[in-house]
Amino acid sequence: MSSLSLPDDEQLRKDAQTRAFINRELQTRFALEDEVLRGSRERAQAENVPAIQISPLQGRLLQVLALSCGARSILEIGALAGYSGVWLARGLPRNGKLISLEVDPKHAEIARATFAAAGLSERAEVRVGPALILLPTLVPNAPFDLIFIDADKSNYPQYLDWAINLSHPGTLIVADNVIRRGRAFQTPPPDESAAGAAAYNRKILEHPRLTSVALPIVTDAFEDSDSSMDGLAISVVRE
Ligand code: SAH
Ligand code: DHB
Ligand code: MG
Repeated sequence: MSSLSLPDDEQLRKDAQTRAFINRELQTRFALEDEVLRGSRERAQAENVPAIQISPLQGRLLQVLALSCGARSILEIGALAGYSGVWLARGLPRNGKLISLEVDPKHAEIARATFAAAGLSERAEVRVGPALILLPTLVPNAPFDLIFIDADKSNYPQYLDWAINLSHPGTLIVADNVIRRGRAFQTPPPDESAAGAAAYNRKILEHPRLTSVALPIVTDAFEDSDSSMDGLAISVVRE
């Protein structure tokens, strides 16, 4: 291919295959799913819950982040079937605690079943309700060492305010889906979730107490799905 021409279909197909190959190899080496993690996805599928959980490599990243900040308490907003919750709770010490918020009672029930199957029921709790109603009740549980935001995207800016409220200097705030196939960078953002992600990105950049980065996550999810080209923001809370 000359440097002046766009890749043709054949090149695009090869690139997609290469990405899938790299993802598969990385996943096999660094983020191999065990029966518990597979079970979470299968339980969700059997109950017709959408497969919008994070990827195995993202899960491993969350686990590494939890361990690297010595997390003893983690807050998750958006449990789904407990898939990300298992990765996070596996980054906690035995007496650590994950609280995961979930608005859908069916999802919450599946997440609880996943935590039970993982032997994590002591360490991982699901609270049911709209996150914006539940967050004020968590003040007695604060501060959290790591907060993972992965629920309805339009409320991300408000979730960030709460995350900072419930943090201490050194807390990591991680947010999934901040790129949305690039729609988060369009002006104006073309849909509500892109608008939420855009506002979130602006806020983490402008906040005087946060140092942040956002990373693209390219998966081999089928190529026009949102999750095939999205990303994750990581912020550290300072004094
Ligand atoms: N973190 C999960 C995926 C979460 S998907 C994983 O990676 O395994 C988003 C979840 O947020 C869904 O289960 C959805 O029901 C939940 N959700 C949506 N709006 C919410 C709200 N207002 N409060 C709490 N949870 C919400
Ligand atoms: C959706 C939500 C997510 O958290 C995600 O990672 C992908 C998609 C959604 O609501 O469509
Ligand atoms: Mg997500």
